[in-house]
Amino acid sequence: MGQTSAGGRLRVRRAAVIGAGVMGSQIAGWMASLGIACELLDLASPGPDRNRLAEQGLRRLGQMKPAPLTSPAAARLIRAGNIEDHKERLQDVDLVIEAIVEDLGAKQALWAELEPWIAPRAVIATNTSGLSVTGQARGRSEAFRRRFLGIHFFNPPRYLRLVEVIPTAETDPAVVEAVQIWLRRILGKVPVLARDTPNFIGNRIGVYSLQVTLAAMQRHGLSVEAVDLVTGPVMGRPKSATFRTLDLVGLDTYLHVLRSGASRTDDPEERALLAVPPIVAAMVERGLLGEKSGGGFYRRAGRSGEEGG
Ligand code: NAI
Repeated sequence: MGQTSAGGRLRVRRAAVIGAGVMGSQIAGWMASLGIACELLDLASPGPDRNRLAEQGLRRLGQMKPAPLTSPAAARLIRAGNIEDHKERLQDVDLVIEAIVEDLGAKQALWAELEPWIAPRAVIATNTSGLSVTGQARGRSEAFRRRFLGIHFFNPPRYLRLVEVIPTAETDPAVVEAVQIWLRRILGKVPVLARDTPNFIGNRIGVYSLQVTLAAMQRHGLSVEAVDLVTGPVMGRPKSATFRTLDLVGLDTYLHVLRSGASRTDDPEERALLAVPPIVAAMVERGLLGEKSGGGFYRRAGRSGEEGG
């Protein structure tokens, strides 16, 4: 498991992050800030510039505020690539963290494609917001399943200390233990063990509060600014406000989280709570995805650094 020191601890010298979007690039940024070399792989782009998506993710890191990187030197520890041409880079890593689109089929297909390339020592993790971790490992070898678990960072990952650790019934308990110690000691996080239930703990609670607020806003005709005023700093939440958070998370990702949560419950009341708000559906349809698309509830890319998961 990973590069282990005495006591079976996880030692991550080099990591790979798959998916260079909002979360993947920032997770790589935080690890690199702590001296961990990172492969940042996204889909291959057509044409000569095959690493374009991962390079875009890297560039975004330099522009975000508050900064996801502690120094410009940290950025040099991140190597951009793509999963078509650079799979062999996975043979030299101690940890793989997946942060691609929140879609179970896409994640399953990714693991099927990458499994033969991942170093046998590596811990393998998904940053899913709430999809089944067990379901993602379906069809993979026992050796894979024993090293596979959820490591769910919250946005922005440099600043929010909560990380949910979601083992499956098959994850090796030594891996679960070692990952928690590593998160605490090396990444400076507060790991919380969560069961593999839809949306785990943080998002299960967080999504309900966002949903209720969105419904109240529409029912009572409240403005985005008014809602953010009463759900932000004046309520004692220094950075979080409802619509700033939605813009930061990405409305498409929020929509995926709602849909996957609804598809995994038989409780009609819970399903109703998770119904996609028409305003969110309409905005996604028009490409208004939040900060990553340059606009969402707020027209211009607003401040970064709000809470979200
Ligand atoms: P995003 O849409 O910003 O980025 C996803 C990236 O993955 C894109 O660059 C896309 O090109 C790439 N991608 C898609 N399919 C791929 C594949 N097969 N191989 C390689 N790259 C691929 O998404 P975001 O927001 O970064 O979310 C990623 C994951 O993290 C999702 O599972 C999401 O639920 C989770 N998450 C998101 C949070 C947020 O605040 N946005 C917070 C915590 C977890």
